[in-house]
Amino acid sequence: MKIAVIGSGDVGGALGKGWEKQGHSARFGVRDKSDPKPAALLQEAGSNAQAAGMKEAAQSTEVVLLATLWPATQEAIRSAGNLAGILLDCTNPLKPDLPLEIGHTTSGAEQVDGWAKGAGGKVFNTTGSNNMENSSYPGGLVTMFHCGDDARAKSAPGNWPPTWDSKPSTLEESR
Ligand SMILES: NC(=O)c1ccc[n+]([C@@H]2O[C@H](COP(=O)([O-])OP(=O)(O)OC[C@H]3O[C@@H](n4cnc5c(N)ncnc54)[C@H](OP(=O)(O)O)[C@@H]3O)[C@@H](O)[C@H]2O)c1
Repeated sequence: MKIAVIGSGDVGGALGKGWEKQGHSARFGVRDKSDPKPAALLQEAGSNAQAAGMKEAAQSTEVVLLATLWPATQEAIRSAGNLAGILLDCTNPLKPDLPLEIGHTTSGAEQVDGWAKGAGGKVFNTTGSNNMENSSYPGGLVTMFHCGDDARAKSAPGNWPPTWDSKPSTLEESR
């Protein structure tokens, strides 16, 4: 499956590389094609991985991972073309010094749900990027919570990677 990765830092890079290892094809959306970082990531990720402009990456795939720092998230959604497919959102609405930007009357998930027009699901945001390439430990699998109100997005993340111990919920249940 082709999966667009919007935000190719610690999280996007780890998940993109993990998906490549499982035979999926990661398409990294980049803002600046002359930036050397995407080229280095592609080399690590494997032969199926590609880099493309933000909109091109998002619109030629069935699934989009959103992995940007919170202040850049609305702009990233806009420049990727509003993300009409299945959206896996792993952002956390944090300020640079870590307290929550929002979260007491609404949530980051609901905010992203309003900005993007696709089927959103919040996932991968409750663990560190170090657990994303390898979620299997001698004591068991890393638990991965995912929530959202659209069945397509909710059924998707549990399978990618397949080793998560998956815990689905609705947005309402997660409040
Ligand atoms: N790190 C973790 O362990 C972890 C765990 C769970 C959840 N999260 C959440 O996941 C998100 C990503 O975290 P991260 O640690 O991967 O951050 P990161 O390493 O700083 O990567 C952020 C990425 O977003 C890109 N970006 C910035 N502005 C953009 C824009 N306007 N349009 C498109 N892309 C843009 C950056 O590109 P450039 O390189 O070009 O600046 C970079 O590739 C955050 O919301 C964080 O709270 C992180």
